[in-house]
Amino acid sequence: MSPATPRTASPRQIHLGAVIGGPGGHYAGWRHPDAVIDASINPAFVKDLARQAEAGKFDFVFIADGLYINAKSIPHFLNRFEPLTLLSALSAVTSHVGLVATLSTSYSDPFTVSRQFASLDHLSGGRAGWNVVTSPLEGSARNFSRERHPEHAERYRIASEYLDVAKGLWDSWEDGAFVRDRASGVFFDPDKLHTLGHKGRYYSVEGPLNVGRTPQGRPILFQAGASDDGKQLAALHADAVFTHQDTLEQAQAFYADLKRQLRDNGRDDDELKLFQGIGVILGSTHEEAEQRYQQTLELITIDSALDHLGRFFEHHDFSQYPLDEAFPELGELGQNSFRSGTDEIKRKARERGLTLRQVALEAAAPRPRFLGTPEAVADGLQQWFEAHAADGFIVGGGTPTAFADFVEQVVPILQQRGLYRSDYQGTTLREHLHLPLPPNRYTQAPE
Ligand SMILES: Cc1cc2nc3c(=O)[nH]c(=O)nc-3n(C[C@H](O)[C@H](O)[C@H](O)COP(=O)(O)O)c2cc1C
Repeated sequence: MSPATPRTASPRQIHLGAVIGGPGGHYAGWRHPDAVIDASINPAFVKDLARQAEAGKFDFVFIADGLYINAKSIPHFLNRFEPLTLLSALSAVTSHVGLVATLSTSYSDPFTVSRQFASLDHLSGGRAGWNVVTSPLEGSARNFSRERHPEHAERYRIASEYLDVAKGLWDSWEDGAFVRDRASGVFFDPDKLHTLGHKGRYYSVEGPLNVGRTPQGRPILFQAGASDDGKQLAALHADAVFTHQDTLEQAQAFYADLKRQLRDNGRDDDELKLFQGIGVILGSTHEEAEQRYQQTLELITIDSALDHLGRFFEHHDFSQYPLDEAFPELGELGQNSFRSGTDEIKRKARERGLTLRQVALEAAAPRPRFLGTPEAVADGLQQWFEAHAADGFIVGGGTPTAFADFVEQVVPILQQRGLYRSDYQGTTLREHLHLPLPPNRYTQAPE
């Protein structure tokens, strides 16, 4: 079918998430004349964005996070909300849109975090999602009284046991456990209470959790690391994955590989939704969109681009290398931080023969994957979706107005083509993502 052809509603439809990430755009997005300059710490701005996402019938909004900053960090990371606190506030001003936040398994405790996400799920009526990351930034160790940042493979081993514990704690109480019968004085049914008693390599957690089973059974688990270990964790535990590939072919390969690993773990393809992270810039013509992109590029200085690049490589100082010579040989640097990201930067530099200047500018202000008229952008999304390069897209970056433009101009085209919901069919994030309710492990199926 040609990408522009309207089609009747199909069971498989595009899923959409929105990044709420400060002033939008890139490293220097805050300098854009249309940017809300304090967006990353402005409650009214963030609430407005969440309401826009809900008006666009988005599956969820997403708050990214990291645990270490220094003077060279992305400016709007220097002063921003703690994600779960923010989502609690957003739950009060929205009714349908899912609420997803990043939280690191390397620098937190499973009992506390299971409790926090369970609480958010109850508060929001079943809209909580957790983006499970292992923390790429080494400096995080110094903020958490640790002597060293755990090495990459170990971080993923910790994460896997952590999620076993979290899932166990979320099953502490079966549905209907809280009887609350005033007459008999029975508050809960003891047969429906389960104590985890986990003793493992990294964690020892008795349980039970002091929050009952949540509206979604348990919060939705997202995973965003694209290394081999990251993919394995996703195939084992995740309900959804964030990723980013530059080309359709790379995205299709990633999609096929992840779904294969899912099947290897005895899971169905539909049990995990894959979201491609995309930037979008719209214009009434392709040229206008291109011009808007060029305007964002002008905001980046080469010094800021080098700082931005350095963050991916454990805050490496790139100002020591000549700018217009081949990208430097970095050996193992980056392997213990944003591994899949730094591997990709090195690969692109090598294969395309890029200079340091080119690599730094491209990383600091990446060309949006979808740029052009609303129809052209809708065509691109349809193509990627139908070619099984993605089950959905998480929209971020671009320009300060790109998200509002997307909701106003691209969403209606997708709806008209039957590719995207015209209204919410359910109220929970699990329902939006068409994911089954997980059974409580202790609830016996009738014989
Ligand atoms: C859309 C998207 C959002 C992400 N959000 C975060 C985040 O909030 N915090 C984080 O540490 N990593 C986030 N990541 C993942 C990092 O890029 C990831 O840590 C990095 O790929 C390292 O993972 P790896 O070690 O498995 O390669 C995100 C990735 C994508 C594609």
